Amino acid sequence: MRLRNLGNTGIKIGSVGLGCMGMSWLYEESARDDERSVRVINEALDLGGNLLDTADLYGAGHNETLLGRAIAGRREEAVVATKFGIVLDDLEARQAHRDNSRAYLRKAVEASLRRLDVDVIDLYYVHRIDPDVPLAETWGAMAELVEQGKVRWLGLSEATVAQARQAHAIHPVTAVQSELSLWTRDALQADGGEEGGMVGWCESNGASFVPFAPLGRGFLTGTLHSGQFEESDFRAASPRFHRAAMEANQRIVDGVREVADRRAVTPAQVAIAWTLAQGERVVPIPGTKNSRYLRENLAAAEVHLTEDDLADLDALPPAQGSRY
Ligand SMILES: NC(=O)c1ccc[n+]([C@@H]2O[C@H](COP(=O)([O-])OP(=O)(O)OC[C@H]3O[C@@H](n4cnc5c(N)ncnc54)[C@H](OP(=O)(O)O)[C@@H]3O)[C@@H](O)[C@H]2O)c1
Repeated sequence: MRLRNLGNTGIKIGSVGLGCMGMSWLYEESARDDERSVRVINEALDLGGNLLDTADLYGAGHNETLLGRAIAGRREEAVVATKFGIVLDDLEARQAHRDNSRAYLRKAVEASLRRLDVDVIDLYYVHRIDPDVPLAETWGAMAELVEQGKVRWLGLSEATVAQARQAHAIHPVTAVQSELSLWTRDALQADGGEEGGMVGWCESNGASFVPFAPLGRGFLTGTLHSGQFEESDFRAASPRFHRAAMEANQRIVDGVREVADRRAVTPAQVAIAWTLAQGERVVPIPGTKNSRYLRENLAAAEVHLTEDDLADLDALPPAQGSRY
């Protein structure tokens, strides 16, 4: 596995990591299987995909517990990334609210450490910035956790460049995690005077940019069809996965497949390799609960896209339907 820097920490990590969320949350509830997920996480470590992403929100703590179980005995090999700041009110209805207060942070970090069964969290993100709590207050409280040895490095999720700058002035931003894929390119758009957007800001400030949903929640792999989602699946109610939007967005998948055929790789690998091509600081975390997909996704670290491939991918039409 090719390696990339984790922010300015001096640590190198596999250039493709693993998103664990789908093992407990949002997709295909009937296909979840903890034993298989534990094996998949271990396989990711075997193959060098050691950035393992979770959040306290995913399955109301289930996902952190699962990850903790999987890495027991292999703690030093894993880079454990988790998040706080979204409080689940109703698991079934997936109703939640933001809370970035110091008081909540204190409780949240202890609960995550307990569920993960680790002494320290490697990368701790604020999952969504709470408009009711000044970011400086939240980030300052998170920096105290670093001083106390409960957390090693800090990250922001779905932040703006202005927010990243503000946080970075208080304590280094090691990573920013936002959606980035062939059908969601906002993180590359100019923002706050930064020409290359959030990805550009990360490049210039020594932070990692961690694209979430690099496979477009499965769509870009070309294996999804409208009408196939279970009622509880996030995609069943997502505007981008409505029948008409999926039909319109098929043009994107067709373009990805064309490049994949040319390179003799899979559409999933093209989608991941495209994120890696956006900058040396980019470390995508495709999500899967299947060993076959995991192997395919991690092997995308070795896929080289040519200038022509990238030009064709950049010329794909924008997605129809909003992200949420
Ligand atoms: N910060 C945030 O707000 C935020 C939001 C969303 C996600 N995330 C993080 O980002 C990670 C990745 O995002 P995601 O899981 O939402 O979306 P994703 O990685 O874009 O796609 C995951 C979907 O693609 C399928 N898949 C994976 N590899 C495949 C392959 N090679 N061929 C065909 N299908 C494949 C998976 O199926 P199977 O499950 O059947 O393998 C799953 O349905 C999450 O796990 C989570 O850790 C963070």
